[in-house]
Amino acid sequence: MAIVTPAPVFLITGASTGIGAATARQAREAGWRVVLAARSRERLEALAQELGGAEHALAVTCDVSDWDQQQAMVAATLGAFGRLDAAFANAGFGGPRGFLNDTPEHWREMVLTNVYGAALTIRACIPALKESRGHLLLTSSVAGRRVLPGSMYSCTKHAVTAMGEAARQDLHGSGIRVTLIEPGMVDTPFFEQRPETALEDEDIARAVIYAISQPPHVNVNEILVRPTAQQG
Ligand SMILES: NC(=O)c1ccc[n+]([C@@H]2O[C@H](COP(=O)([O-])OP(=O)(O)OC[C@H]3O[C@@H](n4cnc5c(N)ncnc54)[C@H](OP(=O)(O)O)[C@@H]3O)[C@@H](O)[C@H]2O)c1
Repeated sequence: MAIVTPAPVFLITGASTGIGAATARQAREAGWRVVLAARSRERLEALAQELGGAEHALAVTCDVSDWDQQQAMVAATLGAFGRLDAAFANAGFGGPRGFLNDTPEHWREMVLTNVYGAALTIRACIPALKESRGHLLLTSSVAGRRVLPGSMYSCTKHAVTAMGEAARQDLHGSGIRVTLIEPGMVDTPFFEQRPETALEDEDIARAVIYAISQPPHVNVNEILVRPTAQQG
């Protein structure tokens, strides 16, 4: 009798649009079951339907800056699919450059989402990823590698870059691999005015799929992708 191995499970935060949604689409094509997390329930449910419905895709409403909601997201994943093989801490947003050009309230929200939220996703997912000897991915940015003038966003992404390396060292020996995804400019709803000559969300999704498709002894730690037209 043939033994059927269940499809691996990939949880993605910030899955309602942009890079997260494109990654979910490509992960499904690659045979993964997906858990789609963000705040916009309707968008998540529409994407889950598009990706095959309950057997293949689960929509979970989660504000990543809330620890209870992050724990509930992982519990819902394990409840629906029984395992977690990869987790992508991808939710995030930007803001105007200049230390006087954004509000303290917006800074707070951005730090809580981009930095604290990513840390909570790592924390919530580690126990299940230890079980599966799975894979953890985080979306940093080119802005997490080089400092942009007056950019609090750039500061949050430097923290995410540090978090990826901190997690890699912390999880050494657990079998969990850690990958930082560092996009240059990508044409997504991240921008109010959509950029030209930018990457497409699916260009970054391919980088993610590359990282999670490697054999267990290969740990792709960082992927920085710029559009050919981007200098800095
Ligand atoms: N676009 C670029 O040029 C670029 C470059 C480098 C890095 N990045 C990074 O790539 C990641 C994805 O961005 P994107 O370009 O794909 O933009 P996007 O289309 O605006 O996607 C952002 C995602 O994050 C979710 N999100 C925001 N705040 C959240 C919260 N508190 N809790 C849960 N989900 C939240 C949004 O969903 P809801 O609003 O439904 O919650 C959405 O799904 C971000 O971390 C961004 O910083 C983007």
